[in-house]
Amino acid sequence: MKVVSIVGARPQFIKAAPVSRSLRQEHIEVFVNTGQHYDDDMSAIFFHELDLPQPDYNLGIGSGSHGWQTGQMLVQIEEVLLIEQPDWVLVYGDTNSTLAGALAAVKLHTPIAHVEAGLRSFNREMPEEHNRVLTDHCSDLLFCPTETAVNWLAQEGITKGVHLVGDVMFDAVLYNIELARKRSILADLGLQPKGYVLATLHRPYNTDVPQRLRNVLRAFADIGEQVVLPVHPRTRKQMTKFGLDEAFTCQGSNLRLIEPVGYLDMLMLEHNSKLILTDSGGVQKEAYFLAVPCVTLRPETEWVETVRAGWNLVVDADRESILRAANGHSWPTGAPEPVFGDGHAAEKIVHVFSISKKG
Ligand code: UD1
Ligand code: UDP
Repeated sequence: MKVVSIVGARPQFIKAAPVSRSLRQEHIEVFVNTGQHYDDDMSAIFFHELDLPQPDYNLGIGSGSHGWQTGQMLVQIEEVLLIEQPDWVLVYGDTNSTLAGALAAVKLHTPIAHVEAGLRSFNREMPEEHNRVLTDHCSDLLFCPTETAVNWLAQEGITKGVHLVGDVMFDAVLYNIELARKRSILADLGLQPKGYVLATLHRPYNTDVPQRLRNVLRAFADIGEQVVLPVHPRTRKQMTKFGLDEAFTCQGSNLRLIEPVGYLDMLMLEHNSKLILTDSGGVQKEAYFLAVPCVTLRPETEWVETVRAGWNLVVDADRESILRAANGHSWPTGAPEPVFGDGHAAEKIVHVFSISKKG
């Protein structure tokens, strides 16, 4: 079977790594990088660390408005599919690269497989929500990480081709955690295990409104613990635009801004943090896998299992709520319930391809 895999943004490089490794044992994979993320620390570092195959096609699209970016990808992915004539197109998650891959494929009647299908925030303000819903509704194989995702698809009438396989990000953590332990990032940053809070922030909802971005950064700076924030390029751009860079990096500030880190360093930072503050989807899950309490800086989350289990508190972007959650909350102890599969999601996905009819 010939599969064209489409990636482009940081979390997709991480999700694709375990799947690509398994897929290549049985099938032909053509790897396409849209170039949605392109800085070395948002892209190249993951190819190197995760042993991802070098892309057969580097589309180099880069940044732009949603319509422009998705449109450029659509045109160029169509050209790739016309050349490659694959049996399947495989897309990941919910970015513009996901939607463009799915649209290019469906218009050529090429079957689509979606990894991380069925996720919903029920918030149509989020660009990712449109991308997920549209991608799910044109997919032929829908690989769900959780039972909740399977149920949400069923509510939309999608039951055919749905497979509960577990979460490929859990596979990635299990595969890489020992390698991560060898990293020197804690010593490099002068951090003690469980002696700091780790934060990430990149959603437009939090970064594009000056007052909200200021509130969240103020809360980080006021927590009373050292807060380490690897700054996403979108956030860096907005901080500069709103004149917020210097206010939070003055001497004596608890908030420590660093450049985005590679995946292994990130796992190490997550694992050793006493608390994670984030609006990232992937980081919420990794906090759960690694038994680190998480405060989610959004009005809602797709990863409701982590909230039900008590390991994740959804507090939105309000300074007082963030401080209360960070300082006064009582968290569970022990190991979180394994609700994201058994760490073999990638093999299950490849098995489904192997028993599925050729497109
Ligand atoms: C995208 C995804 C989001 C995902 C996130 C993961 C969409 C709609 N959004 O958001 O779902 O959670 O990736 O990180 O697909 N930039 C750089 N260098 C880069 C990449 C981006 O400077 O390598 C800057 C550019 O100014 C760009 C901005 O970041 O305009 C936003 O990048 P973009 O890919 O459009 O969206 P993200 O916010 O990264
Ligand atoms: N990540 C990383 N370095 C960083 C920040 C995040 O390697 O500086 C990893 C993180 O461990 C997770 C993924 O990137 O695996 C999450 O991506 P992101 O937060 O950009 O996107 P989302 O998951 O919200 O779509």
